[in-house]
Amino acid sequence: MNAPSSPTRRRAIRGRLLDFPPDGGFRLRPDHVLLVEDGRILRIGPAADLLAALPQGVPLDDHRPRLVLPGLIDPHLHFPQTQVIASPARDLLDWLDRHTFPAEAAYADPAHAARMAGFFLDELLRQGTTTAVVYGSVHAASIDALMTEARARRLRLLAGKVMMDRNAPSALLDTAEIGARETARLIERWHGVDRLGYVISPRFALTSSEAQLAAAGELLVSYPTCWLQTHLAESAAEIEAVRSLFPWARHYTDVYDRFALLGPRTLLGHCIHLAEEERARLAETGAVAVLCPTSNLFLGSGLVDLAALSDRRRPVRLALATDVGAGSSWSMLRTAAALADIARLQGHTWTVIEAFRQMTLGNAAALGLHDLLGRLEPGFEADLVVLDPRATPAMAHRLERSCTLEEELSVLLRLGDDRAVRLVYVLGEPVAGSDLSVH
Ligand code: GUN
Ligand code: ZN
Repeated sequence: MNAPSSPTRRRAIRGRLLDFPPDGGFRLRPDHVLLVEDGRILRIGPAADLLAALPQGVPLDDHRPRLVLPGLIDPHLHFPQTQVIASPARDLLDWLDRHTFPAEAAYADPAHAARMAGFFLDELLRQGTTTAVVYGSVHAASIDALMTEARARRLRLLAGKVMMDRNAPSALLDTAEIGARETARLIERWHGVDRLGYVISPRFALTSSEAQLAAAGELLVSYPTCWLQTHLAESAAEIEAVRSLFPWARHYTDVYDRFALLGPRTLLGHCIHLAEEERARLAETGAVAVLCPTSNLFLGSGLVDLAALSDRRRPVRLALATDVGAGSSWSMLRTAAALADIARLQGHTWTVIEAFRQMTLGNAAALGLHDLLGRLEPGFEADLVVLDPRATPAMAHRLERSCTLEEELSVLLRLGDDRAVRLVYVLGEPVAGSDLSVH
């Protein structure tokens, strides 16, 4: 017997369509219409052509003169740290001990985790972030809660429980064996369900024994379509501690390398204090350096060397992320502005076009999802954000004077935040943003 087919869902979205092709520059299509069918982009064309052929009854959202972009992607943040953001500390290790580990311990309670998961995902959407790569707490229930809520919102979300078996409060420790068993169980339960993906997540070298790092490497072999995430070379004290825990390692990167954790599906948070040999190894393995500039400034961890990482002779694959709760903003706009400032301080220019490409297609490519996300093309998933470069009085005032696209984007990057996010679509359906009530 045939299952009853669900009715086709269509929506037309009109505005200034903007995306960032892989070979550089930008593509602005003024007054175009994007037709969504069952969550994917079906067709794009000039409004004059497409509206005439629009089937009857298809809702039309007119966003002119605002910009319609692919939804933003945040490839590194921590679900159990929503109530840790803005907790001042001396440095990374002090911040983990005093603020972060106590907050994460509360996620042993599934009811707490469920309540926090709803807030976490709604806040991401409010900021225009439609896909994220997320660390849970050590508790498997934190991932069950997060995946359940993400699935209900139909999000493309990647996440994993942290594996940590030493150097943290005992309430937050698993063991090499338990961490691996629970990770495998969560992969079987969630990886590939709807739009969800699993990320094997040994927290960092300081909190995992050699046995646990080895187990993480074995999981990646057993489940090669999963991702792996961890932290690398974030603070001076962390690196010193890693040196004494792994005296045999040539450097921090070598620790992960020896346990076969480096590859094209590996996401390495921070990558600030690396030697050239380490950057070369990242480039060779295709591992991704996930830069978290507001976090690095907030904790005083250091200034990431964007020029050295992107050296054309052996470019390291890059991503850009908030790292909430060490990151001091949920906004990818604020995060990109911080990276542009850090690059500038080091005599390097990271343009506003590069910043917007990174938040969309660049981060999609870092996750290997560039055939699904990050472009406004037929066949791509219709996760979209409508941005208003005149969202606040100061932004509108600035743009009275001059108005090239680059200036509009610069105003969004420098003065924009969640107030500039007018509407967010997930699979073509409006879900968040200040205009939500009128759609
Ligand atoms: N290194 C290990 N755990 C963490 C974390 O939760 N946040 C940051 N910024 N660095 C880490
Ligand atoms: Zn982190």
